[in-house]
Amino acid sequence: MDSRPIGVFDSGLGGLTAVRELTALLPGEDIIYFGDTGRVPYGGRSRETIIQYARQDVAFLRSFDLKAIVIACGTVSSTAMEVLERENPIPIIGVVEPSAQAAAQASRNGVIGLIGTQATIRTGAYLRRILALRPDARLIDVPCPLLVPLVENGRFRPGDIVVETVVGEYLSPIKAAGADTLVLGCTHYPLLQEVISREMGPGVTLINSGAQGAQAVLRRLTALDALNEPIRRGICRYFVSDSIGSFVSLASIFLGHDVTGEVAQVDITRY
Ligand code: DGL
Repeated sequence: MDSRPIGVFDSGLGGLTAVRELTALLPGEDIIYFGDTGRVPYGGRSRETIIQYARQDVAFLRSFDLKAIVIACGTVSSTAMEVLERENPIPIIGVVEPSAQAAAQASRNGVIGLIGTQATIRTGAYLRRILALRPDARLIDVPCPLLVPLVENGRFRPGDIVVETVVGEYLSPIKAAGADTLVLGCTHYPLLQEVISREMGPGVTLINSGAQGAQAVLRRLTALDALNEPIRRGICRYFVSDSIGSFVSLASIFLGHDVTGEVAQVDITRY
């Protein structure tokens, strides 16, 4: 048993898709969340900048005594996972491996769509993992640079014509290829799940990378015998690098409860 909190980070709101699943799967765990809202989006940046930001995010989280860190970000998982693992003697769990596994298992026809940030697609990390597990697979990957800014601005609801148009355009080559499985390779995208699922139609399985990351945490902590005793409800604390206002309102909507009072601002450049 290990009662220390789990650290979770992302460039912004997207990692909350992992937090939501984590609190459902492991209600007794305490969570420290960091969203780098002052520097989001990461996905259009160079490998060097993403690694520099990720190092600072991890250094901030490690100012707490944590038992594990979750990279709840496809961009950082695909770009900086090895560097962060090498530099930090603490279990680090990313979203690429569990999402690739879920996609390889879910696909019946072997045609798998992947949407992610430009940086994620550039690394080829998903492609390599999926092909290692399913050499017969055909991957259609599409970078979607407009989706993270839309979500961060609260534009993710069905019926929003801008969101539906942008999503429709990004998904059209994946639909045309006949994919039966679509990896939401950026943790922001599950906030668009309703719009994406309507666009893809009922026969297509969506792989939620945030939720897959949370399930990987459950497996890893179970293997390490490091779960907390579920005798009380875990506490979540949220930190952001920009003002807390819009994070509080969007996070409260997404998580389904008010997070006012649980959010604080941090100067990430000090780490
Ligand atoms: N949630 C991040 C991801 O999974 C978004 C990256 C970004 O800020 O562009 O890739």
